Amino acid sequence: MAKRILVAGSSNIDFLLSTPYIPAPGETMISSGKYAFTPGGKGANAAVAAASFGADVVFCSRVGDDAYGDRLIELFKKRGLDTRNVHVDRLEQTGLAVVMLEKSGTNRIIVYSGANAKISDIDVENAFSTSYPDAVLTQFEIRPEAVIAAAKCAADESVPLFVDAGPANRDFPLEQLERVEIFSPNEIETEILTGIRPNNLENCLRASIALCNRVDIKYVVLKLGNRGCYVYDGKYCDLISPFDVPVVDTTAAGDVFTAAISTEYLRTGDILTSAKYANAAGALAVSKLGAVNSVPTDEEVRALLAQ
Ligand code: RIB
Repeated sequence: MAKRILVAGSSNIDFLLSTPYIPAPGETMISSGKYAFTPGGKGANAAVAAASFGADVVFCSRVGDDAYGDRLIELFKKRGLDTRNVHVDRLEQTGLAVVMLEKSGTNRIIVYSGANAKISDIDVENAFSTSYPDAVLTQFEIRPEAVIAAAKCAADESVPLFVDAGPANRDFPLEQLERVEIFSPNEIETEILTGIRPNNLENCLRASIALCNRVDIKYVVLKLGNRGCYVYDGKYCDLISPFDVPVVDTTAAGDVFTAAISTEYLRTGDILTSAKYANAAGALAVSKLGAVNSVPTDEEVRALLAQ
């Protein structure tokens, strides 16, 4: 039977604009690339991805009472999410992310939180107490109170908690997270949280130990982009190789990765198998444009793994 995951997180409309380079201060640059308004948000990307990988997903989020909010809720339903805890906030606009996508596929993102900033600890507690999840997945794109509530619910009921540490937040009170099953920051988030750039194996280990000294983490999984991922279990470490794919757009690859490792780990209980699955899922996400639109299916991930 599919495992039920409560995903507590943000929903955004991404304003995606391709650009040959990022203009300097005072410079106006004309981009010949196209633009699009596409579904995104770290929470929504992870929720849709977890459902695509076979989980039964309950999504706890907020959108504004506007056309973007309607569009997102409709999409979540289409993608099979339980949206009973996606609230329509009458006072705030739907979150918006301006995603500047460079030719190399890397991006720079500015987020207007809007309704996401109103996702409360009560929203999360209500979602948890009415959905009886097997696990909880969250990120840092919502208020710390909501993340901490998610962690507390998971700890109280002894269900695993998966945390994606994006976006980077130096001031996040990590110590208040109770036990975390998998904690997964990317390179920038790792550096901001620990002061250590994970640019070689020694620094990956130092950063992982620094994180474990602050939080009770079972597995630290550092997302290292085109270097794959680094898994640390408090004693042993492994570097899992990446898949070599053409990079179109890295947006949401990290969200897809964390959803994939969480879903596969719930199925198998094996962290290394799950990390390989997540590397494949992340690789497929970077080879497509957009956030939610780049989420692969479980079959696509397994096909890449089989190659
Ligand atoms: O991680 C990618 C996401 O970050 C985008 O979809 C955007 O909405 C921002 O939240």
